[in-house]
This record gives sequence, structure tokens and C-alpha cells, in this order.
Amino acid sequence: MQTEQEIVDQLGRPLRDLRISVTDRCNFRCRYCMPEEIFGPDYAFMSKESILSFEEITRLARIFSGLGVDKIRITGGEPLLRRGLPQLIAEIRRIPGIEDIALTTNGSLLGKQAAELRAAGLDRITVSLDSLDDERFGGMNGVGFPVATVLEGIRKATEAGLKVKMNMVVQRGVNEQDILPMARYFKERGIQLRFIEFMDVGNSNGWKLDSVVPSAEILRLLRTEMRLEAAEPERFGEVAERYRYEDCGTEVGFISSVSHAFCSTCTRSRLSADGKLYTCLFSGDGTDLREPLRNGSSDEEIDGLIRSVWGARTDRYSEIRGLHTQKQTKVEMSRIGG
Ligand code: GTP
Ligand code: 5AD
Ligand code: SF4
Ligand code: SF4
Repeated sequence: MQTEQEIVDQLGRPLRDLRISVTDRCNFRCRYCMPEEIFGPDYAFMSKESILSFEEITRLARIFSGLGVDKIRITGGEPLLRRGLPQLIAEIRRIPGIEDIALTTNGSLLGKQAAELRAAGLDRITVSLDSLDDERFGGMNGVGFPVATVLEGIRKATEAGLKVKMNMVVQRGVNEQDILPMARYFKERGIQLRFIEFMDVGNSNGWKLDSVVPSAEILRLLRTEMRLEAAEPERFGEVAERYRYEDCGTEVGFISSVSHAFCSTCTRSRLSADGKLYTCLFSGDGTDLREPLRNGSSDEEIDGLIRSVWGARTDRYSEIRGLHTQKQTKVEMSRIGG
């Protein structure tokens, strides 16, 4: 066993989770994340050379594990676009201290890859789906991608033994009518659905407070036809507030970054595909770890750098969100996977 030393930031928050983005590309163009006017043919995505190799990612994951990280989430863009991903999962699986490996995906390529990902050691997946209606889903994902393929991917993932959760971003005037159908569908199948408040991530999604549907409103709507009781948090710093349907025990969650910020328990760090470390989803810039990885720095030196970054951390964007934060330049969601 390696010796694990917990490190805390300026607000006393330990480092527990590492979210690793393996690509900044995506085959969708969700309007709230990668609107096509900005992420068009001329957009400068990361070059092949700038992206960390699996070896480099695994080395960093090992160092993070030594600093107290026990939970890793693979993200993108769309992570299943990265070739050979099961190999990376298998390498991370071998790191002592990593107890949970999850992946966030749009589900479009899941049917083909689910079994292989599970065999490599992936524990869980979270699939994003904003509607069960092809027309609205196609409009929201920006490329007309059909619902059925995502549902088939979810089926394959469940069959393969992966634990599955769903994410649905709710936007006023866009997909409010999908709240109840989505809740019913996933309740019946025993899958946890989480409603996410539309957030002002990145610089290009045209966020307005008016477009946010607060979680309290969604909960009230669910309660018009379903009995729900609050569930206890399972882990320090959980993002979703969970409820249980009283008749079947299936859970449903609310991620309320706007109406009920959860920064005070935020234990998450984020690594972009090109090796920058971000300490907040709304950070302007990150700390470059690729240069030290490639210039011969030792594990101890990189460990020291991460310690100093986390030790200086004061981020609490969602708690201080206001007019003044709107103007800040923020990292794009597609670079750090949410
Ligand atoms: P588990 O609880 O481990 O299942 O995963 P998770 O909820 O952390 O992961 P997921 O990637 O599914 O995140 C769900 C949503 O919550 C995404 O829209 C994220 O952008 C959002 N989210 C996750 N972490 C944070 C955070 O630290 N701050 C904010 N503001 N939003 C977050
Ligand atoms: N607000 C809220 N959630 C978002 N996501 C992407 N962009 C936004 C946004 N602006 C969600 C995706 C995915 C998760 C990683 O983040 O739908 O489920
Ligand atoms: Fe792609 Fe996910 Fe962003 Fe949609 S939210 S564009 S699926 S990375
Ligand atoms: Fe953590 Fe930043 Fe999200 Fe707050 S806004 S919960 S500090 S990532």
C-alpha cells in the first residue's frame, strides 16, 4: 500500500475526485455546450501531439491517487471517440486506491463499446439524454441524433453489468415538457435520472437566469403524480440531491448548481485532454501538467505542483455567481467534461 496523504484547499476541502477529459471533440453539438456557430469546421480543436497519451494520463492518475483521489471519471467532449479507451480504463483499474471508475457519455457509441468497457474494469456510466422525443432531442443535440440509438446503448450497458445513471439538462421553453415522460420512463426501468439546472459554463451558450428551471419546481411537478421521499447522501460532496420513489425504491436526483450551490463540499479536480489541471468547472485557466510530464520532472515534483495548486484553491463560483461573474472568460465545458 502506498502512503496516502490527504490534502486540503484554502476552504478545508479535500481532493477526492479526478475527472479526466480524454478528448475535446464530440459528435454532438448540444446548444448549451458546443453550439455549432462556434464549434464549426474552423474551430481549433486540440492537436494530436498536444493530447496526453494513455501512459501520461495513467502516470498522473497514480500521482493523484497518492494525494487522496479514490474516484475517477472519464469525460470528453465525447470520451468514446478516443480510440482504445478500454486500454486506459484497464491501466487505471490497476492503480491502488482507485475504488470507482465512471464515465460520462452521450450514449451514441455506447452500444458498440459497452461490453468491452465493462471487461476493462469500468464500474459505472452516466448517459446524457435531454428528451425522449426525436425532434426535440435532435434539435438539442444539434445533429439530429435519434433517441433510439441512445436507449439501445443504455440497454447494452446494463446487460454488460455497468451501473447506469442518466443526466438531463432542463432548459425553460426548450424541454420542460420532457420532465415527466423522462421521469416515468427511467423510473419504470429502475435507472436513476438526474435533472440538471442549465449552467453558465463556457462562453458561448447564451445562458440567462430565465432559462433555468429550478430543481424545486421540477420536484413539485414530479410530486403531482409520484410519491417521493428524500434519500440520505452516500458520500461527502455528492453533486446530486437524491429522492426515492416510495412505490419502487428507484432514485431520482437534482443537480442544482444555480439554485442551491454545492461548492462548500467540492472535492473535484479536472484534467483536460491536453494536460491542464482545473480546480473549478468555471475556471478561466488551468495549470499545465503536460510540460513537467514531458520535460523529465519526477513524480515527486509533479506531486508537489499539484499539492501547491490544490493548497491555494479558493474556487466557489456557483456560490458567488452574479452579474460580475458573467463577464469572466471561462474554460469551455467540452474541454473539461462538465
Ligand atoms: P456521480 O455522483 O459520481 O455519479 O457523478 P457526477 O454527478 O459527479 O458526474 P456527472 O458527470 O454526471 O455530473 C453531472 C452534472 O453535474 C454535470 O452537468 C456536471 O457538469 C455537473 N457537475 C459535476 N460536478 C460539478 C461541480 O463541481 N460543479 C458544478 N457547478 N457542476 C458540477
Ligand atoms: N449546463 C448544465 N449541464 C450541462 N452539460 C453540458 N453543458 C451544460 C450546461 N451548460 C451536461 C451534459 C452532461 C454533463 C457532463 O454536463 O449534458 O450530462
Ligand atoms: Fe457533446 Fe456532451 Fe457537450 Fe453535448 S454536452 S456537445 S454530448 S460533450
Ligand atoms: Fe466546485 Fe467550482 Fe462547481 Fe463550486 S462551481 S462546485 S467550486 S467546480
